[in-house]
Amino acid sequence: MITGLSHVSIVVPSLESAAGELEKKYGLRIGPVLVNEQQGVRMTYVELPNAKIELMEPLRADSPVGKFLQRNPRGGIHHLSLRVDSVQATVVALEHKGGRVLGDATQKNVHGARIAFVHPHDFLGALVELEEQRD
Ligand code: CO
Repeated sequence: MITGLSHVSIVVPSLESAAGELEKKYGLRIGPVLVNEQQGVRMTYVELPNAKIELMEPLRADSPVGKFLQRNPRGGIHHLSLRVDSVQATVVALEHKGGRVLGDATQKNVHGARIAFVHPHDFLGALVELEEQRD
């Protein structure tokens, strides 16, 4: 079951210049920069009261995010992330209805939360990350 919005994720050419721009124009502050070697990204979050903005910068040109940046050199929205009570149950229910989940369903994000990605074909053209709620 979907329980909320976790974050919207934006690919940027440079975390540092993106952070500078968000701070200068909106007074937003980024959190610590984290590295996800498996996904080939440096990333950080802007915490808002009810959701986060995720910023991702590719570590490698041949990573999925690196390829996204090649297609969109100025960056852009990459995915939205929805909170679910159980990734496993949501994936099983979606697949039962013919939906497609990308990659293997045992992925975890940098915070250790279980995640999965739904094919854009099965969410109105948008890439959707399912993130298991942990609190
Ligand atoms: Co995400």
